[in-house]
Amino acid sequence: MAKNKPVAVSGVKPSGDLQLGNYLGALKQFPAFQENHETYFFIADLHAITVPQDPILLRKRTLNIVALYIACGLDPQKTILFTQSHIPQHVELGWIFNTITPLGELERMTQFKEKSEKSGLLAGLLNYPTLMAADILMYQPDVVPVGEDQLQHLELTRTIARKFNNQFGETFKEPKASLQKDAARIMSLQYPDKKMSKSDEDKNGCIELLDSADEIRRKVKIAVTDSGNEVIYNPETKPAISNLLSIYSLLKEIAISELEKQYKDKSYAEFKTDLAEVIVGALSPIQKKYHELMKDEAQLIKILRDGATKARALAETTMQMVRSKVGLLEQ
Ligand code: AQP
Repeated sequence: MAKNKPVAVSGVKPSGDLQLGNYLGALKQFPAFQENHETYFFIADLHAITVPQDPILLRKRTLNIVALYIACGLDPQKTILFTQSHIPQHVELGWIFNTITPLGELERMTQFKEKSEKSGLLAGLLNYPTLMAADILMYQPDVVPVGEDQLQHLELTRTIARKFNNQFGETFKEPKASLQKDAARIMSLQYPDKKMSKSDEDKNGCIELLDSADEIRRKVKIAVTDSGNEVIYNPETKPAISNLLSIYSLLKEIAISELEKQYKDKSYAEFKTDLAEVIVGALSPIQKKYHELMKDEAQLIKILRDGATKARALAETTMQMVRSKVGLLEQ
């Protein structure tokens, strides 16, 4: 890999089956970075276990994500793909960040408040953002491609970088977020005021990337709509239809204004029938590639091991600098 390219880092946690919001907000934008950035994309398994996970499903979903990364266009020859738990330096740096992060900063995080209501006040959930700061800052990135829900954590990552630099001398860069325009927050098909989430209990609100064509058609058909009957974009007055228009526009790369013209005299039902086919058409090549890749589990494990070897080398370089600055005796 050429030196001096800007660096991009991001991850996805195997806390459920990946959904359309994960794709539009994150995975879809990842492959473009590998052309002109040094790229690190990982599977955040240690983050997934901050809420209870079935161990068998966790392992399966970790492999699903690496296959989906590749099926969505990431190339292991160009990108370092790895599993977070294979790089123990993340946990070590996360611990050091815990020692400089005020408790109040962690307690005010929206994700902590929401998830602790469901899972109880677990220390791992509280410390999620310091580990996430370690995942990111370890690789000195310039940019972090994420959906909007992760912006608060990324802002805290920048604060932690600043705090560390102030206390121990210039060490970490403050990375910027890269948000996929209009896809930063895809909403539930059943509750358009809530973001689509892979751990959502109401599966009808969530299109999973591996849903069958018939399942996608069914979910779009029963998606809630707004009062009135015009297919127009207005997130204030028509949050449900606006969300569906965004999904259509992003997948087909057609401007929303064009779609409004196209569906001017058509019903919600006609629009939804077409949207379902757009989603099926966009996901079926990804699913085909995914199923091919999943036939060779050993190859996926090898890709992750090779990626971890490369990521660990850089992580260790960062940690030697950090340990020395903090005053930890050399090993
Ligand atoms: N609805 C969404 N719209 C746009 N982007 C989204 N992302 C998640 N949901 C949407 C982005 O997907 C990436 C991976 O997310 P994550 O696995 O780290 O966790 P998350 O953000 O908490 O995603 P979920 O699906 O909501 O998982 P659960 O239900 O386990 O909490 C991130 O870049 C995220 O912004």
